[in-house]
Amino acid sequence: MPQTISMASDHRGVSLKAALRGKLEALGYAVHDFGPMTEAEAVDYADYAAPAARAVAEGKAARGIVICGTGLGVMYTANRFRGVRAALVADVETAKLAREHNDANMLALSGNRLDFATAWPIVEAWLATPFAGGRHQRRIEKIDELTQ
Ligand code: RB5
Repeated sequence: MPQTISMASDHRGVSLKAALRGKLEALGYAVHDFGPMTEAEAVDYADYAAPAARAVAEGKAARGIVICGTGLGVMYTANRFRGVRAALVADVETAKLAREHNDANMLALSGNRLDFATAWPIVEAWLATPFAGGRHQRRIEKIDELTQ
């Protein structure tokens, strides 16, 4: 069973989303793209990031990738969903640490600052790096415990 990845963006992330989706599908991932499919119209990032994050929160997708101009709006939206840990990442080292230390199940990317060539190594590292567990498990559990 291939891992399912939810994806969403706003108009600023459509082209990076399409490039990443193509690569992920070529590698055998099942991608659920919540849109938008065109950058012709300006749209509101929350309308798209929310269903992509809900899919992760409900276990319908194992991971999610969300993209807007800065990556911030989609990250804020995704992190409102309990159980979602969305990391805004712009380099490979942070992508690895977001997995090892924070068990980041969603990745937020900047469509303004990243092209496919810079974004793909980040996505690859985020997909390949396991959560370290141990003391980091206790720490991520406290996020939910202390923010009820
Ligand atoms: C859209 O202009 C821009 O505000 C959006 O893509 C994003 O950067 C918001 O966080």
